[in-house]
Amino acid sequence: MDVQKVLYMVGGSGETSYAANSKIQEKAILTITPMLEEAIGEIYRNLLPEKMVVADLGSSSGPNTLVVLSKVIKIISNQCLRSGQQPPEMLFFLNDLPNNDFNNIFQSLNNGEESVRAEKGSISVPHFVAGLPGSFYGRLFPRQSVQFFHSSYSLMWISQVPKEIGDKRNGMPLNKGNIYIGKTSPPLVVKLYQEQFHRDFSHFLKLRFDELVPCGQMVLSFLGRNKENILDGELSTIWGSVAESLDSMVREGLVEEEKLDTFNLPFYAPSAAEVETIVNLQGLFDIIHFHTFESNLDPFHDLDDNVVFDNVQSGANCAKVIRSVLEPMIASHFSSAIVDDLFSRFATHVANHLLKEKLKLPVLALLLKKKE
Ligand SMILES: C[S@@+](CC[C@H](N)C(=O)[O-])C[C@H]1O[C@@H](n2cnc3c(N)ncnc32)[C@H](O)[C@@H]1O
Repeated sequence: MDVQKVLYMVGGSGETSYAANSKIQEKAILTITPMLEEAIGEIYRNLLPEKMVVADLGSSSGPNTLVVLSKVIKIISNQCLRSGQQPPEMLFFLNDLPNNDFNNIFQSLNNGEESVRAEKGSISVPHFVAGLPGSFYGRLFPRQSVQFFHSSYSLMWISQVPKEIGDKRNGMPLNKGNIYIGKTSPPLVVKLYQEQFHRDFSHFLKLRFDELVPCGQMVLSFLGRNKENILDGELSTIWGSVAESLDSMVREGLVEEEKLDTFNLPFYAPSAAEVETIVNLQGLFDIIHFHTFESNLDPFHDLDDNVVFDNVQSGANCAKVIRSVLEPMIASHFSSAIVDDLFSRFATHVANHLLKEKLKLPVLALLLKKKE
């Protein structure tokens, strides 16, 4: 699987698009807003820059992209109001992989401009927006040219599926029956995923360290896991339901077994301890804050909702969220012809699971400051 080609969210603004199905991700951005305020405020006060470069890594397309942008502008506007300083000229880079629907972002920029203007009060912050296609596991900017990086719901996507996961052992695919780390994955699969994440995340930190100006900061939030047992992680349960839905299609002859055997996600949900260890081992950033929180996979119900809810409707809500993320990868590996059926089976699976427990998405959120 060539991750750079097949990893992108469903484009446009239709019913199955990421733009129409990214409310959970928006909630995460709202949760980490105090970190954004702290980081941007401190950068502004320390550097009083005349020009400021901000990049959102893995921005995708849809309303969330502009939420981050307008929040940063509002924070700067408030800082300038307080300090009586002229606002800096701001340059925003919206980064994602090349198949991301950048056109959708550019087309929605005019609406976004209006909301930025409406929110920002009396200080107008001059700003420019550019799309930046490319992997954040490679260099994206010249040295010491960026004041602030933001990235939400993206860093759990690793740069590649570890190659050996596709190997066979005694004639059987190593990760038979799973598309990620699942209950039946052997320890080698866990080790390979873990090592790939460690390599990727360390590399990401080094690249961003080089690109940040002195005193530059980053706010990163991404999916992780709270469960001690890695085989039983929250995301293993969700991807496990996708695997079982695919498996039911294999049993009915609708999907080739070999196709399922060779499909593994370029994804890893780390624990907070793993992430902290990598940041500390690298030694390039100070961890200013590290929070974890959970959201419900169903964007229309919070985890603490006690209302009697309709598990079938909730299963369908969850399926829309997952489809907007996985559809391009599924269509590319299997066929676009299986997508409707697959996500309808997945919705039923989730509906049954919801009778036992809600599906939780643990999010790790960090504010990192470049070391002197
Ligand atoms: C779930 S979306 C998150 C979008 C947005 N930040 C939000 O919070 O709604 C994850 C995005 O990360 C992008 N992504 C994954 N790996 C990437 C990489 N190596 N380089 C750049 N973008 C990447 C995906 O293409 C996708 O658009």
